[in-house]
Amino acid sequence: MTAARIPVGGPSPYEVVVGTGVLGELPAMIGGAARTVVVIRPEGLAGIARPACEVLAAAGYAVREEEIPDGEAAKDISVAAGLWSRLASHRVTRSDAIVGIGGGAATDLAGFTAATWLRGVRVVLVPTTLLAVVDAAIGGKTAVNIPEGKNLVGVFHPPAGVLADLSVLGSLPRAEYVSGLAEVIKTGFIADPVILDLIEADPRGATAPGGRHALELVERTIRVKAQVVSADLRENGRREILNYGHTLGHAIERREGYRIRHGEAVAVGMVYAAEVSRLAGLLAPEAVRRHREVISAVGLPVTCGSGPWHALREAMAVDKKARGARLRLIVLEKAGSPVPLEDPPEGLLAAAFAEVAGPQPPGRAPRQRCPGGEDRLPLRPFGAPPARPAKRPRGRP
Ligand SMILES: NC(=O)c1ccc[n+]([C@@H]2O[C@H](COP(=O)([O-])OP(=O)(O)OC[C@H]3O[C@@H](n4cnc5c(N)ncnc54)[C@H](O)[C@@H]3O)[C@@H](O)[C@H]2O)c1
Repeated sequence: MTAARIPVGGPSPYEVVVGTGVLGELPAMIGGAARTVVVIRPEGLAGIARPACEVLAAAGYAVREEEIPDGEAAKDISVAAGLWSRLASHRVTRSDAIVGIGGGAATDLAGFTAATWLRGVRVVLVPTTLLAVVDAAIGGKTAVNIPEGKNLVGVFHPPAGVLADLSVLGSLPRAEYVSGLAEVIKTGFIADPVILDLIEADPRGATAPGGRHALELVERTIRVKAQVVSADLRENGRREILNYGHTLGHAIERREGYRIRHGEAVAVGMVYAAEVSRLAGLLAPEAVRRHREVISAVGLPVTCGSGPWHALREAMAVDKKARGARLRLIVLEKAGSPVPLEDPPEGLLAAAFAEVAGPQPPGRAPRQRCPGGEDRLPLRPFGAPPARPAKRPRGRP
């Protein structure tokens, strides 16, 4: 067994245990007070969930397995309501526990169910996709979707522990694994450049769970997320930096009716955010080029086709991370230094989109100046009072 233990602080501290052969840690995370443990897992992952159920049964818990639909179909209030009825029939009390096994959709739903049952019971998450390991299972965000949008209904409910056994990632389709790499790369750009060095040293190896640096990449990414959410569980400040690449990414996902993988949309979104940073006079062109190179090296997209900008711009405006009427975009002040940029000029946003809208003609020189006319836009640090609304250029779409 090789394992790293990463502490997550905040109002309800817990540990992320990551490695191979770590399932034996599950009972300790459940604790001694529980008698019944309800294991929630998607259809299709019965084989992956079985060893966890066996470990729990061997530890003396009454294990009840509940199957949920695969993928996003699980994140529906009707699925949660079905589970509430099953929890009632299993007589799950406040001292009992839920284990959520699966990708981010399953861990989000298991977390939501645990948060709402009896106003909150213990949940341990066992993520089985790269995205869930490095992102979704950590930080206590739970949610279901409604027709009006993704993740609009949810609560913060930190897990009692996260157990990431990387051996299960071997059965993940490569495209799913690579999609999860977008969050790893994001972490490299916002906080830990060693991640980028490791990927550049072996880009092909980075695209598979058996790669030379797989454990280190995962561990470094988790450490950053753990640090950020420890300081800001409810996204009142610094947690916002994790949104790097997500504002345009979410808009692309909406435009594509969520048929595109999250990581693919975020990959383009990161190049976009880097271009905004460059056009705002913040980020050097080499850093933007590095975005394109690292992202392409693992097979993620850097362009999103040339659909109309105004539709994506509108979708960005309704992103739930926007505050009030303001658009807040996380940009890089320099490599490794993310900051929020409020209400950037519309011309700048559109110009940055032109850079990701289609394939780049070879040899094209990057533009150096901010189309809003300033070389450098005013930024405000986290927690500073809001700036006055920027004057909108005429002709805003
Ligand atoms: N709570 C958060 O902070 C947070 C953060 C990021 C994303 N999310 C959510 O995560 C979800 C996306 O997660 P995802 O990308 O893991 O998708 P997913 O949960 O839909 O899983 C993708 C597919 O992989 C399958 N799968 C899972 N593990 C497998 C394995 N080991 N082997 C083979 N197949 C396996 C699943 O059954 C599914 O078909 C979204 O709903 C998103 O909103 C939440």
